[in-house]
Amino acid sequence: MKSSVKIFNINDAKKEYIKTSNGRPFHNMGLGFSYYSPAYVLTNEDIRWVSGLTKTRANKVLTVAGSGDQPIFYAMNGAKTVDTFDISFCAKVAMDIKSAAIKKLTRDEYISMIFDMRNKDKVSDIHQISDIATDIPQNSAYFIKEMDEYPIFSNGLSPESYIEILPTEEEFAQMKKAISSPFKFIWTDINSLHSHLLQEYDVINLSNILEYMTPEQISKTLVSLRNYVRPQGYIIAQTGSWGIHRNRKAFYEASQKFKHWAKIGLLQQNKKKANSEMIVVLQRIR
Ligand SMILES: C[S@@+](CC[C@H](N)C(=O)[O-])C[C@H]1O[C@@H](n2cnc3c(N)ncnc32)[C@H](O)[C@@H]1O
Repeated sequence: MKSSVKIFNINDAKKEYIKTSNGRPFHNMGLGFSYYSPAYVLTNEDIRWVSGLTKTRANKVLTVAGSGDQPIFYAMNGAKTVDTFDISFCAKVAMDIKSAAIKKLTRDEYISMIFDMRNKDKVSDIHQISDIATDIPQNSAYFIKEMDEYPIFSNGLSPESYIEILPTEEEFAQMKKAISSPFKFIWTDINSLHSHLLQEYDVINLSNILEYMTPEQISKTLVSLRNYVRPQGYIIAQTGSWGIHRNRKAFYEASQKFKHWAKIGLLQQNKKKANSEMIVVLQRIR
C-alpha cells in the first residue's frame, strides 16, 4: 500500500520555531532537519558538476528538493521529468519560488531575490516574490503569507559563501527554457520515500543526506530505493563542499553490500584538491 500524502499545518509549522526575548522566532535547532526546518537558498554542493555527469543519460530524475538548485540544474541539463522529495516543506517552498522566478525575472533580479530570501526579516519585504506571487503553487503562496515573519529560508551560510553556484547568463537562459511547471514534490523522510514512488528513474540523487545517517540506515535506504532505478541507471550520493564528507567512507562501505547488483564508483571532482567534492555512484547492473 502507498503511504498517504501529508498535509501541511501552519500551527505545527509555527510550533517548530521558538520566539526570542525580542520576539524574533528561530528554528528549534534540537529538531535538526524536520517537517518545517528552514530551507537553504543556494545549494552547498557542486550540483553543476554532478548533474552534468549524467547529462545524456538522465531523462527521469529523482532528487532532493533542498534549495531547489538540484532539480533546477537537472532540468537545465535536459532531464524531462524531475521529481523531488524533502523532509522539509520549506524546501518545497524555496524550490517553487525559484522555479517561478526563473521564468519571470531577469538573472539580476533572481540573484538579488536569493540574497533577500536569506537576509530579509519578512518574506513580504521581498518585492521579487510579490511580483511572482500568482505564479507560485497555491499551497506555497499560502505558506509564505502565513509564515511571513518566520525565518523559513535561513538554513546554511549566507549565499556569499556559495556564490559560484549562482547560474551564469547562459545557464540562466537555459533554465528559463527548460522549466515549464513546478517540480513534483514528495514530502517525506528519506526512510519512507520508496513508499511514494510509482516509477523507475534514470538517476536518483541523494544529495547531502546520507552524511547524516549510520551505515545501517544507509543500507536500508539503498535496499528500499534500488527497485526504483532502471537497469543501467544510477543512485548518486553527493557530499557537501569543503570536505563535509565525514560519512563518505560509511556510504562507500555500505555500498559494497550491493556489489552483486551495481557497479560502485567513487569520483572526486578535482583529484589535486584534498577538499574537493566526492560522490559515490552505484550503477545498476541487474
Ligand atoms: C543537508 S541539506 C544540504 C543542502 C541542500 N542539498 C541544498 O540544496 O540546499 C540537504 C537537504 O536534505 C533534506 N533532508 C535532510 N535530511 C533528510 C531526510 N532524512 N529525509 C529527507 N530529506 C532530508 C534537508 O531538508 C535539506 O533540504
